[in-house]
Amino acid sequence: MGAPGRRGKVVGMSAQPVNHHADHPGFSGVVGATIGLELLLTGRPVARLAADLADVAPGDHVVDIGCGPGNAVRKAAHRGARATGVDPAPVMLRLARLVTRVGGIDWREGTAESVPLADGAATVWWSLATVHHWKDVAGGLREAHRVLAPGGRLLALERQVRPGAKGFASHGWTREQADAFAEHCREAGFTEARVTGHRAGLRNFWAVRALRA
Ligand SMILES: C[S@@+](CC[C@H](N)C(=O)[O-])C[C@H]1O[C@@H](n2cnc3c(N)ncnc32)[C@H](O)[C@@H]1O
Repeated sequence: MGAPGRRGKVVGMSAQPVNHHADHPGFSGVVGATIGLELLLTGRPVARLAADLADVAPGDHVVDIGCGPGNAVRKAAHRGARATGVDPAPVMLRLARLVTRVGGIDWREGTAESVPLADGAATVWWSLATVHHWKDVAGGLREAHRVLAPGGRLLALERQVRPGAKGFASHGWTREQADAFAEHCREAGFTEARVTGHRAGLRNFWAVRALRA
């Protein structure tokens, strides 16, 4: 079964934890900028999916954890919400600022495990294609619970991947990992945690949604 400590839950004997790419070195330099550009060009369908699933509306404050170049942050702002994009990689935040034309957005350096927002500041917390990189799953969910106001909505989206996939094809979750993350959410005090499958652009995604009681 799963290793104790900061790794996410492991469900089956051969399964991976939900943060199976926690040892990723991070995004910086020319490689980081190139990946940021690719995310910028390909990320609009999943940004739209996030805004639809979280039912973003004027009056919301959306915090996007691991916002990368910011497609989903801008989508939230275009729907009339205030939005805060949080990412540990300065290269991603520079790119996000450079291409943003809509108002109502803050960009902040931070991580899932240390979110630079006050208690109860957000009504929506989401993290797109990022939980698989977190260092500390329980710590990230503690922060999600802290920054969400009571009744706030949590949404994690990860690309669907096959068990045993290697390299880039493994950057996402199997169904088992999505279920394991939903269980982490329950353990962190969230209610109504559920997993659903969705298509966005050319890819399939797992969505984990839950409520902050
Ligand atoms: C695959 S990119 C996805 C970016 C963006 N969410 C999107 O869908 O375009 C993963 C992002 O997670 C960020 N990241 C890595 N570790 C993180 C952590 N512990 N907390 C928050 N973000 C993290 C990376 O810097 C990167 O921007």
